Amino acid sequence: MNCDWQKSSIYKLEPNQVDIWRVWLDHEESWMWEVLSAEEQARAKRFKFPRHRRRSIVARASLRHLLGQYLSIDPLDITLLTTQHGKPYIEQLYGTHELMFNVTHSHECALIAFTLDRLVGVDIEHYRTVSDIENIAKQFFAAGEVAKLRTVAEANKQATFLKCWTRKEAFIKAIGEGLSHPLHQFEVTFLPTEAPRLLYDQSDPKAADDWQLFDLTPDEAYIGALIVAAQQSELIDLRCHQL
Ligand SMILES: CC(C)(COP(=O)(O)OP(=O)(O)OC[C@H]1O[C@@H](n2cnc3c(N)ncnc32)[C@H](O)[C@@H]1OP(=O)(O)O)[C@@H](O)C(=O)NCCC(=O)NCCS
Repeated sequence: MNCDWQKSSIYKLEPNQVDIWRVWLDHEESWMWEVLSAEEQARAKRFKFPRHRRRSIVARASLRHLLGQYLSIDPLDITLLTTQHGKPYIEQLYGTHELMFNVTHSHECALIAFTLDRLVGVDIEHYRTVSDIENIAKQFFAAGEVAKLRTVAEANKQATFLKCWTRKEAFIKAIGEGLSHPLHQFEVTFLPTEAPRLLYDQSDPKAADDWQLFDLTPDEAYIGALIVAAQQSELIDLRCHQL
């Protein structure tokens, strides 16, 4: 999907909407440190390299800022909890709705997706050369994905691999299980001729009908994917914003 990443100050969500915020992590502002919890500040201080510290501060402060805006509360009053597999979530409600979100960051870019009452997962990768993709695919991907990847011309293999990877990561992030959900148990489309789809998940016979998958292009240097819990028949309105 081609996004027009416009600056925005609209923090209203409807149940059929997904808001995706793009955040550049190369610019830390003074307020950002102030909105972090003591634990987040301690975590940031543990980074050895300043650029990793900065990225961590900007990403977490932006998440708190946006949650504060949606909920009309002070970012510091937000209690960020994590599931047993590490997925952050909140218990504060958006009206009568659950405000659900997911964060991804790679290099200098982060994406933060928000929905109401729907699981959502987002993933980005900075384009780079990943070595040994055939073996990674063979080890982790579903058999159908491995076979399809073999048909891709060498010149397109890296980008195609990352497309498949981000779509798969978005799914395991949406369900919150991370890599404890084996990547070979489910299959996504990724060839240029195929629309973005989750084809099946062995642990959920209804999965192909219950999820909608989208490509995101945060910038030409990045590839991204988003998946949201929505029946194929539902009209989902994806709105891209720049923080
Ligand atoms: C969380 C996970 C699913 C993805 O991590 P990732 O792709 O490295 O990182 P992302 O930037 O996309 O996501 C990290 C964010 O996801 C969120 N997250 C953490 N655990 C999560 C989970 N179980 N489910 C959903 N979201 C999770 C957090 O907000 C985290 O950011 P934060 O720590 O700054 O708050 C993890 O299982 C993982 O480590 N994956 C392997 C990554 C890898 O090997 N990549 C190689 C690419 S070729």
